[in-house]
Amino acid sequence: MSTALIILAAGKGTRMNSDLPKVLHPIAQAPMLAHAMRAGRALAPAKTVIVAGHEAEAVTAAVADIDEDAQVVLQTKQLGTAHAVDQARTALNGFEGDVVVLYGDTPFLQPETLERMVAARAHADLVILGFQAADPARYGRLVMDGDSLERIVEYKDASDAERTIKFCNSGLLACDAKLLFELIAKVGNKNASSEYYLTDVVELARAEGRSVTAVACDEAETLGVNSRADLARADAVFQSRARAELLESGVTLMAPETVYLSLDTVIGRDAVVEPNVVFGPGVTVESGALIRAFSHLEGCHVSRGAKVGPYARLRPGTELAENTHIGNFVEIKNAAIAEGAKINHLSYIGDALIGTKTNIGAGTVTCNYDGVMKHRTEIGANVFIGSNTLLVAPVKVGNEAMTATGAVITKDIEDGALAIARIPQVNKPGRAQKLMDLLRAKKARRDGGDV
Ligand code: UD1
Ligand code: MG
Repeated sequence: MSTALIILAAGKGTRMNSDLPKVLHPIAQAPMLAHAMRAGRALAPAKTVIVAGHEAEAVTAAVADIDEDAQVVLQTKQLGTAHAVDQARTALNGFEGDVVVLYGDTPFLQPETLERMVAARAHADLVILGFQAADPARYGRLVMDGDSLERIVEYKDASDAERTIKFCNSGLLACDAKLLFELIAKVGNKNASSEYYLTDVVELARAEGRSVTAVACDEAETLGVNSRADLARADAVFQSRARAELLESGVTLMAPETVYLSLDTVIGRDAVVEPNVVFGPGVTVESGALIRAFSHLEGCHVSRGAKVGPYARLRPGTELAENTHIGNFVEIKNAAIAEGAKINHLSYIGDALIGTKTNIGAGTVTCNYDGVMKHRTEIGANVFIGSNTLLVAPVKVGNEAMTATGAVITKDIEDGALAIARIPQVNKPGRAQKLMDLLRAKKARRDGGDV
């Protein structure tokens, strides 16, 4: 049975107090919407339709980044959740199978929960996801009739007796596509909010003699994000879950609560991460790598046996091959560092290729930017770059070459050559003492006192 996802993301999110649409606010460096889409991916959806409204252009661009096969449809006026789902009607025209409706602002939904909803469709025409609320507040209430769901009543429309019900509507549902759109066509807006409620499909289905059931999940899964405080809490929840998963999978986190992870962070078994490390988006770390304290990584790949940090910064496009060593206060950007190469102290390597077993001395800088354009530096294998070398790109250094300490390299260096590019040293005998005397006398004249 194939499945289509409809993700509702047209709401404004007023309480975020932001120009950015709510569903694009990031949790673990990925838009909230990406979290919902990722949960949905567990169903291997044949189609994914996102209903956008507020800042639809920005939402469309973000969706294209997350899943290029997902389709965005517009809901120009937010007339209610049923009206929102109805906007996907054309996009799903001719689709045969189940539709699962989810919200773009509920990032904690577990894939297993969606699987349980789809499984429950085997014995019900319509499946609603509910949860026992500690504080039911303004959620819609699920009015049960034994094992079947009789109807959902919105808080505003509920009687006092109905408001005592703690089994609440998460907003998610699963239903045959054709049936869902037939039911939605019958939904009206005669209610306390004058909105087209998706929840009305329950009663409509029952009136046709259809079976409706509710599947329950943990309340924590359905928590929505409505404010910046919720967003911060959501990130914290994500972090503790992701850290626990890494520990479970065989990664050592020395101080787990100090390690910040992104939605797409991948770290292999037996890798070790010291305290206070930030993994920005797009990082993969292979088995057995060591990421030392206070390092910041984004958009990079760290291979087996590599050592990074402490205090290293790996920026997008950094590829560290096996057994490379990147030490303290080293920044690397858009550079491939070949097997066994070492950059241990205080260096900037950008737009570069560093060959196998090459050693980059302390204070080396690839001068990759001339103020207008970026240029590449290519360094061969088994090279020794002396401390404080400036490599003015574009420039190439051959295999087994060396640069003398303090060199400013502006020309290519052939294989095996030693490049010396600094002003030669001159020692003037006795001059230090004379100079010192001169300066002291000058100071005494100025101050009018003793030397
Ligand atoms: C909805 C449910 C309620 C449930 C609650 C769970 C209805 C009528 N009510 O109420 O039973 O307990 O969610 O959180 O469905 N949206 C659109 N277009 C619209 C309206 C909403 O895209 O026209 C999107 C919103 O961006 C949001 C989601 O649908 O992601 C839910 O909308 P919201 O206004 O938060 O619904 P609630 O009143 O909370
Ligand atoms: Mg809501």
